[in-house]
Amino acid sequence: MSNRKDNSKYKLAIGSDHGGWDLKEYIKKFLADKGYDFVDVGTADCESVDYPDYGALVINTLLQNKAQRGILVCGTGIGMSIVANKYPGVRAALCYDEFTAQMSREHNNSNVLVLGGRIIKQNMAAKILQTWLTTEFTGGRHSRRLDKITKIEQEICTKKVNN
Ligand code: RB5
Repeated sequence: MSNRKDNSKYKLAIGSDHGGWDLKEYIKKFLADKGYDFVDVGTADCESVDYPDYGALVINTLLQNKAQRGILVCGTGIGMSIVANKYPGVRAALCYDEFTAQMSREHNNSNVLVLGGRIIKQNMAAKILQTWLTTEFTGGRHSRRLDKITKIEQEICTKKVNN
C-alpha cells in the first residue's frame, strides 16, 4: 500500500515569468512529492517574458474553477502580486517566511501565494509552501474584515485611480 498522502482536496494553478522559473520548477517537484494536484500554465523556460501574461493565466484558471488556489512566482514577487490583486476575489499574499505564510492564511484567507524567485531560497520556499498549503483560515473577526474588502471591490468597480 502506498503511504503517499492524498492532498487532492483542492487543485492548484502555478505560473511564473523567467525571473521565477527556477523556483517554479522546484515548487512543482515539491507539490508532486506531497501529492498535490496542480496545473502549470508556464512559462516553459527562462526566456524573457512578461509577468502579467502568466499572472493572468493563473487567475483565469481560478476564475474558470479549473483550480481553487494559485501560486505565482516572478523575480521579486511584486509584479505578480500587483497583477493578481487586480482581480476581485483574489487575495494574493507575497510571503517571505513561515510567519507571513501562516498569517496570510489564518487572517487573510489568501487564495494565491506569491514568491520572489530571486529572493527566496528553495529550503525557505519549502517551509512557506508547507505552511501555506496546510494552514486553515481562522474566520471570526477576520471574516468581517474580508467582507469589507469585498465591499470595496464592489464599490470601485466603476472607479479608477488617475495618476
Ligand atoms: C523581470 O525582470 C522582473 O521585473 C519580474 O520578474 C518581477 O520581479 C517583477 O516584479
